[in-house]
Amino acid sequence: MDYISYLSAKLRSSDQPRPFLKWAGGKTKLLPQLLPLLPSALKTGQIKRYVEPFIGGGAMFFYLATHYQFSELVISDVSKELILCYTMIQQNVEELLQYLTELQKSYTETTSEKREELFYAIRSRFNQQAKQQCKVERVAQMIFLNHTCFNGLFRLNSKGGFNVPFGRYRNPKIFNATNLRLTAKLLQKTEIICADFEKSLAFADKATFFYFDPPYRPISKTSAFTSYAKDGFKDQDQVRLAKLFHKLHKRGAKLMLSNSDPQNNDPNDDFFAKLYAEFSLITTVKAARAINANGQKRGKVSELVITNYFS
Ligand SMILES: C[S@@+](CC[C@H](N)C(=O)[O-])C[C@H]1O[C@@H](n2cnc3c(N)ncnc32)[C@H](O)[C@@H]1O
Repeated sequence: MDYISYLSAKLRSSDQPRPFLKWAGGKTKLLPQLLPLLPSALKTGQIKRYVEPFIGGGAMFFYLATHYQFSELVISDVSKELILCYTMIQQNVEELLQYLTELQKSYTETTSEKREELFYAIRSRFNQQAKQQCKVERVAQMIFLNHTCFNGLFRLNSKGGFNVPFGRYRNPKIFNATNLRLTAKLLQKTEIICADFEKSLAFADKATFFYFDPPYRPISKTSAFTSYAKDGFKDQDQVRLAKLFHKLHKRGAKLMLSNSDPQNNDPNDDFFAKLYAEFSLITTVKAARAINANGQKRGKVSELVITNYFS
C-alpha cells in the first residue's frame, strides 16, 4: 500500500470526530495530499491558533484539531444554515440526536415510495418554516436532507430555498451518534462564527495558521459550480481573498489556500499566478473531481495549493 492509500485508510478508520455533512468541495479525499504541505511550525508548537474561514464540511479542521494542540480554534462560513448546524451540535447535541433518531426510523421503516414522500415533506417544511422553526429540529432536517438528497449536495436556490431532489439510496446512514457526540466535544473549545471571510483578519498574528478553501474558481464555463451561497463567489471575491492573504502575510500568520488550477483548461490563464505572484509556492495536486457539470470530464485534474511558507 502506498503512503497516500495508507493515510486515507487511517483517516477513515479513526475514532476521532470527522465531517458529519457531505459538502460540495469537501476535502476528505484530498487530505492525504494536503497534509505534507502543512507548515512545519505546526509540529514545533509555534502555532497556537487555527482559523478556517470557509469551513464547509470541515475535513481539515477535524484533522488538525485532533492531531495538534491549539489554544484557540475558530471556524466560520457565510452560510447561516451551515453555521447553525455547528452551533446546535455544540449547544444541544442530545436533543438533536433525538430528532435524528426519529427521522432515521421513519425513513428506514417505510417503502421506497413513502421515503420519497417523506423526503419532499421534510424539504418543504425546511423551506417554509425557516423563521418560526425550532433550531435543533431545523438542523436535524438539514442533516437528513443532506444524506438523502441527490448526490449529497446542500445547495440553495436564488431565493435561499433547498431545491435538491430526492436521491435513491438503498440504506443511507443519516447520522452517526458517536461521531456527533465527539464533534460536540470538540466544538466546546471552538469559536463558531457566521461571517464573510474578511472578518477573519481579526485573528491574524504570528502564532496563527489559516487554511482557506473558498468556492473554487470554475475552470470552464460549464463547471460553474459556485453557488454555495445565494450570490455565488465571483472573480472579484477571489481578488478580495488574495488581498486578505497579503494582509495576513504581513502580520506574520502562516497561510495555506486551495483553489482550482485554471491551467487545466487554458495554459495561458494566469489569474492565480498573478494574484499570488509573490508567493510563488504554487504546488499542484491531483484530485478526482466529484462534482463536474460534464460527467465525461470527471477524473484527475490538478489543483492549486498556495502557501506563504517554505516548509
Ligand atoms: C469549498 S467549500 C469548503 C469545503 C470544506 N473545506 C470541506 O472540507 O468541506 C467553500 C465554503 O465557502 C463558503 N463561502 C462562500 N462564500 C463565502 C464568503 N464570502 N465568506 C465565507 N465563506 C464563504 C461556502 O458556504 C462553503 O461552505
